Amino acid sequence: MRILVIGSGGREHALVNALAESSRVQSLFAAPGNPGTAKNAENVELDAGDADAVVDWSAQHEIDLVVIGPERPLVDGLVDRLQENGIAAFGPTGAAARLEGSKAFAKAFMQEHGVPTADFRVFDAGDVEAASAYLDETGAPVVVKASGLAGGKGAIVCAMLDEAHAALERIVEDKDFGAAGDQVVIESFMEGVEASVFAVTDGEHYVLLPPSQDHKAIGEGGTGPNTGGMGAYAPAPMVNGPLLTRVCREIIEPTLKGMSDADTPYTGVLYCGLMLTEEGPKVVEFNCRFGDPEAQVVLPLLDVDLADVLARTAAGELRNVSIRAAARHAACVVLASDGYPVGYETGFEITGLEEAEQMPDVDVIHAGTARQDDGTLVTAGGRVLSVVGYGTSLEQALDRAYAAADVIQFKGKTLRRDIGHKAL
Ligand code: GLY
Repeated sequence: MRILVIGSGGREHALVNALAESSRVQSLFAAPGNPGTAKNAENVELDAGDADAVVDWSAQHEIDLVVIGPERPLVDGLVDRLQENGIAAFGPTGAAARLEGSKAFAKAFMQEHGVPTADFRVFDAGDVEAASAYLDETGAPVVVKASGLAGGKGAIVCAMLDEAHAALERIVEDKDFGAAGDQVVIESFMEGVEASVFAVTDGEHYVLLPPSQDHKAIGEGGTGPNTGGMGAYAPAPMVNGPLLTRVCREIIEPTLKGMSDADTPYTGVLYCGLMLTEEGPKVVEFNCRFGDPEAQVVLPLLDVDLADVLARTAAGELRNVSIRAAARHAACVVLASDGYPVGYETGFEITGLEEAEQMPDVDVIHAGTARQDDGTLVTAGGRVLSVVGYGTSLEQALDRAYAAADVIQFKGKTLRRDIGHKAL
C-alpha cells in the first residue's frame, strides 16, 4: 500500500511510526509532516486545506489510502472529495465530522439519541442577552463553549459567575475564537475523572483501542487554561471492563446507529471524551480524529497491523477485525514553549534529542519543530515534542518518559511534572 498521512503534529508522527511497522506498507508520505515524520515517511509540501491539491497529488502518486490526522480538513469535507475521486480515505465525511465541528450539533444529537452528557443550552451569538440571562439563572460552576473548532481551547470551565460572563464576552463579542463563536454552548459542570476512549469504526462495526487519559490544563493539578494536551498515558486503569461495556452500550452504539439512521454514517475514529461521573460515563465532547497526545500512547500499544485496520475501516470491512493490545504501559510528557497556550516565541535550538532517543523504551515524537538549512533543530510551535516512555507498569513508563524529557533542552521548555499521578 501507498499511504499519505495528512497533518504535521505529534499525532501524525505517531501515526507514521505505527504505519511504518506494517508489512503491507510500501511507501509512506506525510503532508506536510514534520522533521520527525521525515524519518519514516517522505514529507510532501501539500496544504491540507487545499482539497484539490490533495486529491490531485494522491491520484498522481497512486495513493491507496489517505489517513487524515487533524479535524479541520475532516470537517471541511476532505474525505468526501477524496471518495468522489475514487481515493480511499480514513476519517469521517464532513457531515459525520459535525460531531466535532459543531458542539451545538453534537449536543442536540446526544439529546435526541439518549447519549448521556451534561445539560446544556445553545445560543446564537446575536442572542447574547438571553445567554447572559441563562448564566445568571444557572450560576457557577458552569462550562461555556464556542460551538465550532477552536483548537481545543474553546471550552472554558468557569468556577465563578463573573468568569462565565467574561467567557461569554470573549466568545461572542471579542470573537477570540473567530467564527467558532457564532454559536455558544452553555453546559452544566460535571464532576468526575476524564478519560478518552477511541472507537475505530466503518460505520457499522467498531473496535476499541486501549483507553487513555489526557492532561488538558497547562498547569500541574489541572490549573490554568486548557491546552491541546500536556501529557497522556494508556491504558487508563479507571476505565475498567464493566465501565467500557457501558461506554459501548450507552455512548458508542447509539451514536453510530443515530449517525447511520440519519444517512451520515460515521467512519474513522470516534474519539469519546468522557467524564466518569458517579452516575456513569458521560460525553464531554466527541472528536472526529485521534487525540493528540493520546495517539502517542495508544497507537504503540496496538499489537495489530495498523495499515490493515485503517484500510479495512475505509473499505467498510471491519466486521471480522479484532484489536489486540500489548500488555504494557505507555506514558507521554509534552514539552511545550514557555507561554503556551497563550503566546510564545519559537526558533530556539533543541539539544539532547539524540541522547533521549537512544534511551531504552523511549520514543521522541515531534510536533512543533523545524529543521533549519544548516540542520539545526529548532522549536516551531506551542507543543514542541512528545516524549513517550514504555514499561511493564505505568510508574516505569513515566520514569522513562521523564528521564528522557530531562535530557532534552530548549529555551523556555515547559512541562507538567504530574502526568499520570492520579492513576498512580
Ligand atoms: N488531547 C485532546 C484532543 O486531542 O482533543
